[in-house]
Amino acid sequence: MALGGGMEGRGRLVSSQGEKMENQSPPLNRIKIAIDGPAGAGKSTLARLLGGKLGIPYIDTGAIYRALALKAFRMGISEDDEENLAKLAKELKIEFKRDDRGMRVYLDGEDVSEAIRTPEITRLSSPVSKHPKVREALLELQRKLAENGGVMEGRDIGTVILPDADVKIFLTASTKVRAMRRYLELKEKGYEVNLEDLEREIEERDRRDSTRSIAPLRMAEDAILLNTDNLTIEEMVEEALRVIREKCGIG
Ligand code: DC
Repeated sequence: MALGGGMEGRGRLVSSQGEKMENQSPPLNRIKIAIDGPAGAGKSTLARLLGGKLGIPYIDTGAIYRALALKAFRMGISEDDEENLAKLAKELKIEFKRDDRGMRVYLDGEDVSEAIRTPEITRLSSPVSKHPKVREALLELQRKLAENGGVMEGRDIGTVILPDADVKIFLTASTKVRAMRRYLELKEKGYEVNLEDLEREIEERDRRDSTRSIAPLRMAEDAILLNTDNLTIEEMVEEALRVIREKCGIG
């Protein structure tokens, strides 16, 4: 299992006054940050930028469920076949590697970064992830990825995967704003999409992810709620850094 991580600014946070803050407990390059929230709230963008700023790995757990969905799809395994999906999950060979295009996802040695983001696999990743045995099979893998610190994003990071995370952020945005973000993202990739369909799909995915019996999308009691509806990316990152400084007792 290889995991690339941003090295810039390793172990340092810069306070609003500009001075560097080091030697915190835990060391900043080993802190664990959990970011949860619904699809399209900005989790990946925030986690990626925070990882770069703090010099810690960024771990996208949605990519793991997506890779599993892709493999199952290719093998003709049904989204309802819990036993075979769990078997597949246990053997899943997934790697994250950074290159000049950003973080890339490898499944059994194949770069699947684009293949896991098609509308079909996006839809399939939600029902595949609802099975308790699948989630159990992927639990240790996720904990291992964050054992030396990192920014991990998903749906159940603060509640199940890293209940002891140093900082927990729950990111939200209205359905309309999230659908519009996805619309622009997919359009840029050349997909013909309809905004209303996307809104419906997002609502459906939210409903599934929030109502499943195991590890539903839910805000941890000790998480900080951050609504990104009216925030630019820079403001979102600044706000998250403020939360991190406050939680870690620095600044
Ligand atoms: O974050 P994403 O859109 O890439 O996630 C794809 C799907 O994976 C999402 O519909 C729910 C599931 N998922 C999950 O159940 N738990 C996680 N920690 C991350 C994603």
